[in-house]
Amino acid sequence: MESKLVFESEIISLIQDKQELKSLDKSYIKKILLSNLSDSMIKKLNSYSSFKQCKRGKVCGELISLTRKILRDRYGVFIRTPLSNYKKKLLSLSSFDDDYVDSILSFHQSTFERLPYYSSFYPLLFKELFSLGLSEKFSLGDFACGYNPLAYKYLPVKPTNYFACDISSDEMSLINSFFVNQKISAEARSFDLLSDDFSNFISNQKFDVVFLLKALDSLEIVKKHSSKKLLDAINTHFFVVSFPLVSIGGKNSIDSTKRSWFEKFCEKQSWSYSTLSVPNELFYVVKKE
Ligand SMILES: C[S@@+](CC[C@H](N)C(=O)[O-])C[C@H]1O[C@@H](n2cnc3c(N)ncnc32)[C@H](O)[C@@H]1O
Repeated sequence: MESKLVFESEIISLIQDKQELKSLDKSYIKKILLSNLSDSMIKKLNSYSSFKQCKRGKVCGELISLTRKILRDRYGVFIRTPLSNYKKKLLSLSSFDDDYVDSILSFHQSTFERLPYYSSFYPLLFKELFSLGLSEKFSLGDFACGYNPLAYKYLPVKPTNYFACDISSDEMSLINSFFVNQKISAEARSFDLLSDDFSNFISNQKFDVVFLLKALDSLEIVKKHSSKKLLDAINTHFFVVSFPLVSIGGKNSIDSTKRSWFEKFCEKQSWSYSTLSVPNELFYVVKKE
């Protein structure tokens, strides 16, 4: 491959110049950018003597649009308001069940859609988990968590330890500060679930229950079968895996065939599961071991 892209940092900054992408790590944007670059594109992009000229070219324009589209599909589409816009408010909440938490939950599409149901749904979910044998002293993993950890107040029994992760370091750092300020026994860290770093990390971890809420579709788009590999690798007694029943914005319903692969996979692994639902989301409670 042709060596380094001369205007790499300028291109990354330009890609990020969108409200919905501003909290993403530059290193993650770089990873996606580089995965879409060919030798001939690098040669063309490096042939300009200034970034001003480079960004006017067709190759640069197309590369920026394509990278933004991928980042939007994986991350940006869910951001209704970046958490960092409300940093001060988040860090000055009176308690984890401050009324303002609900406003913050509405800043992410997934928690926004789930907001009317947390108070009735979480108790039902944990009733099911406890009836299947989850210990009342449980550790919880929340992977590709979005802003869901901020719904801590709705958990009917608090976990002894809560570990949350998603791809933005800025957002995970804010969620971690929320945990620290509210004296919650928890940690939030940025991780790409498809990275070797994450594989190494989870190889040493054990959870009682792991949430993968509306997360697997995002992973499958990137790499087919990656979620099966991930589910296999996570050391947990239970998974709670959810899928949307309607498209973002609620206009179209999503066909059940879109999740049949998951049911087949559980059956193949001899993992038993039950289902629960709220109007726009279907949850699988899976007993792994
Ligand atoms: C539909 S949202 C669900 C958020 C949260 N689980 C919920 O249901 O409230 C999908 C989430 O997956 C995250 N995501 C996408 N690809 C990821 C990856 N490779 N590693 C970690 N998180 C990822 C996105 O940033 C986004 O927050």
